[in-house]
Amino acid sequence: MACRAVTYHEHGMQEADFALFNVDELVTCAPGVHPEARGELGVIRRGALAAMGRNIVWVGTMDEMHDAVRLTPDATVVNTHGRTVLPGFVDPHTHPVFAGDRVSDFYRRALRHERYADQMESGGIMQTVHETRAKSEDSLLDLAYQRADVFLQYGTTTIEAKTGYGLSESDELKSLHVLNRLQRLNLLKVVPSFLGAHVVPDDYAGDADAYVQELIERWLPAAVDRAAFVDVWCDEGAFSEEQCRLIMRAARHLGFQITAHASELGHTGGVRLAVEMGARSVDHAVYLDDDDIDALAGGGTVAVLLPGTSLFLGGEAYAPARRLLDAGATVALGTDFNPGTSYTQNMQLILTLAVLKLGMTPEEAILGATINGAKAVDLEERIGSLVPGKFCDFTVYCVGSYGEIPYHMGMNLVETVVACGQTVVREGQIMTVPHPLARPS
Ligand code: NIG
Ligand code: FE
Repeated sequence: MACRAVTYHEHGMQEADFALFNVDELVTCAPGVHPEARGELGVIRRGALAAMGRNIVWVGTMDEMHDAVRLTPDATVVNTHGRTVLPGFVDPHTHPVFAGDRVSDFYRRALRHERYADQMESGGIMQTVHETRAKSEDSLLDLAYQRADVFLQYGTTTIEAKTGYGLSESDELKSLHVLNRLQRLNLLKVVPSFLGAHVVPDDYAGDADAYVQELIERWLPAAVDRAAFVDVWCDEGAFSEEQCRLIMRAARHLGFQITAHASELGHTGGVRLAVEMGARSVDHAVYLDDDDIDALAGGGTVAVLLPGTSLFLGGEAYAPARRLLDAGATVALGTDFNPGTSYTQNMQLILTLAVLKLGMTPEEAILGATINGAKAVDLEERIGSLVPGKFCDFTVYCVGSYGEIPYHMGMNLVETVVACGQTVVREGQIMTVPHPLARPS
């Protein structure tokens, strides 16, 4: 999947088979891309974009386009007068391979004030694990495929996607196969993460060390070449710092990138551990002390904040985004889509929550959902901003200005989505059809 700019040599113009005309606000998320790209989001007013095949070949103003781009005779042209265009969202934290739901946990938290941590002891994640284990690989793929289409419909063109509801060697590998097959079937880009260390499943009778040992010795080697990342959950009721350190070290040794869920339910040393181990991101990061903030500000690890989870869990604890940003940390945003703690695939809603509950500006939130999400999954050279040479992944919103996107709470403003240069959503409707391989068995 080479990202290659195509030049129309004869006339010194870019040849393109796809063009966006008349964009009210072309939000490039790349301030240096063009002299007219303004502010920290690099917004080009009355902007235009051209692509050839999978890649963007040119961005600029409508006035310049005529002299800079030569369209092929069969080129697709989309007129976006009155619209705003953003790079496709990069959602760096999702759990899309699961069966069943946890509706009753949700209502017992909301109406009877049960705590998520207590629900974990009596069911919680293990309920989903049992339901997921009972499904065939094909039926899990069918569910994941439908969910992939929903991500696209909400403007997301890349997800990081975790296993974590198998928690046995064969069931974790089954979930990973689902993600690998999904990568080939759907134009949504999928970055697979192996989350065998989600919780200790009940068949180990609480023997976390035995579980960790098996995971390190057998499961991780079997996941090489199938997952880009290895994830761990370092928290109260999940894995200890020492157990996470062992898993991360083994994962690095095998060549995986690493990431962690940490300090979602209480303060742990997980955030500092993730930075120390060179994790690409550390996610949730709700309960942080000053040392954690300093570590994130000084290290290369992205803080992936998940305000939908805080809302869905029903408490008042939100990640200290303002302190992180003011200290200079890189902050990304994700949905954490999963049946237990965040049943949403809508990054537009996450932008709203980032502004309302995390105190982020709309600009910080949009960067968090695009280029910083790309950094969290180590793909910032290819996705997350509208720059020639990157994949042509963008979304057209039916509003004239980007500030209206977080303002419209929970609404879907998406009109058109293009992924890898192909239109996958038109007038809000998905253009792909369910693949025959993705049918339930
Ligand atoms: O990110 N923190 C761990 N995992 C999920 C919750 C999974 C579940 O409850 O099913 C999360 O919040
Ligand atoms: Fe999660």
